[in-house]
Amino acid sequence: MVDVILGMQWGDEGKGKIVDYFAPRYDIIARFQGGPNAGHTLYVEGKKMVLHQIPSGIFHQNTINIIGNGVVLDPVTLKRECDAVAAFGIDVKKNLFISERTNIIVPTHRALDKASEMQKGESKIGSTLKGIGPAYMDKTGRNALRVGDLLHKNFTTQYIKLRLKHQKLLDNFHFVEDITAWEEEFFEALEFLRSLNVVNGEYFINEQISAGKKVLAEGAQGSMLDIDFGTFPFVTSSNTISAGVCTGLGVSPRQIGEVMGVTKAYCTRVGGGPFPTELENETGELLRKTGSEFGATTGRPRRCGWIDLVALRYASMLNGVTQMIMTKADVLDGFEELKMCTDYSINGETTRQVPYQMNGITIEPVLESFAGWNTDTTSIKNSELLPENMKSYIQYINAYVGAPVTVVSNGPGRDQIVHV
Ligand code: GDP
Ligand code: IMO
Ligand code: MG
Repeated sequence: MVDVILGMQWGDEGKGKIVDYFAPRYDIIARFQGGPNAGHTLYVEGKKMVLHQIPSGIFHQNTINIIGNGVVLDPVTLKRECDAVAAFGIDVKKNLFISERTNIIVPTHRALDKASEMQKGESKIGSTLKGIGPAYMDKTGRNALRVGDLLHKNFTTQYIKLRLKHQKLLDNFHFVEDITAWEEEFFEALEFLRSLNVVNGEYFINEQISAGKKVLAEGAQGSMLDIDFGTFPFVTSSNTISAGVCTGLGVSPRQIGEVMGVTKAYCTRVGGGPFPTELENETGELLRKTGSEFGATTGRPRRCGWIDLVALRYASMLNGVTQMIMTKADVLDGFEELKMCTDYSINGETTRQVPYQMNGITIEPVLESFAGWNTDTTSIKNSELLPENMKSYIQYINAYVGAPVTVVSNGPGRDQIVHV
């Protein structure tokens, strides 16, 4: 059986903390898409750790962590992260497994990402510049290098061929930065990657499932950044929704059990693109400050706004969400009044559907007001002690979305969690 934890908004919902919290209930934690564009924050022994490539179950000694075939892997980031994890006494050579089919991010992918963003100017995506788009382009374009290729002796030849192809594209972009230093680091990191457990991922995971092991698939980014269903073209380049679990790990849809959708009690987005409930005022500023809303990967300030129920219900539909996890509820502790977006008003017409194209049109959010709870909730452990106004806030969300919030996160710490 495979349960799923994924983001229902534009990423950074707090997936890392939630996966780390649920990890003891599972034997295996598996990343199925995305790459080092992800930044999943957890607190281990009181220390902050941000994971980009390694699944968030790595700090549990008896948990197997898998980087699935749907992921794009930057060996340099992976090596750096393995070193950081090893400092906590974790043996990655024992409990980290990588699929042979995982695609490799090469230094020129990063260069191409940067060059493409520079060329787009004002209309840039605001990508994390980690090479995600170009790496997935090489996958669908059938040019990519995969982790399994490392074990074959013609890897360097294949690399040089790809490098030359990329160079032509970079020349077209007039990209002149010297990437020799990146390449040196890359080849060093490949040696390290060779020393890790590289497995036939789809057989590995299915054999574990047949043996009765429990798998938790960890999503990166969020549903509104999905390549097909997100706010295209301001999206990432992978399928972030639950369907991506099947293609990104090689498990059948019949294996999928619970789909736990993570949402903040409000909403954020980092990078460009439409964001109907964005608050470009003091309230937005207050959310940013109270919620420490700065990117875990790039440090950029996150755009903040009210929770968007239209988008949330869409995400629930696309993912088949069976339960929701509401994070950062504590960030709203000091607010007298809260708002939720219940409809989009487009050209004077209201709708509860996410339109196929959200940029280039004006979407006015129709907002419903709620009384805040105005109490410090950060040390509450028991759902009965949650303020009544928070309970009403949650009930409204449950009814609108059609899936219940079963867990409330009331602080960044591992133990700041309430089952409702
Ligand atoms: P992810 O990408 O979905 O894993 O989320 P990020 O790690 O990028 O961003 C979530 C941020 O919120 C991190 O700094 C977390 O430590 C923090 N966080 C997670 N849950 C909570 C919560 O319930 N309350 C507060 N105040 N912070 C939280
Ligand atoms: P986690 O897993 C938030 C955003 C970028 C940009 C767009 C495309 O931490 O939730 P990309 O580098 O993927 O080509 O960028 O997607 N983005 C994220 N935003 N959280 C993330 O990951 C993100 N990964 C990518 O800011 O707008
Ligand atoms: Mg993040």
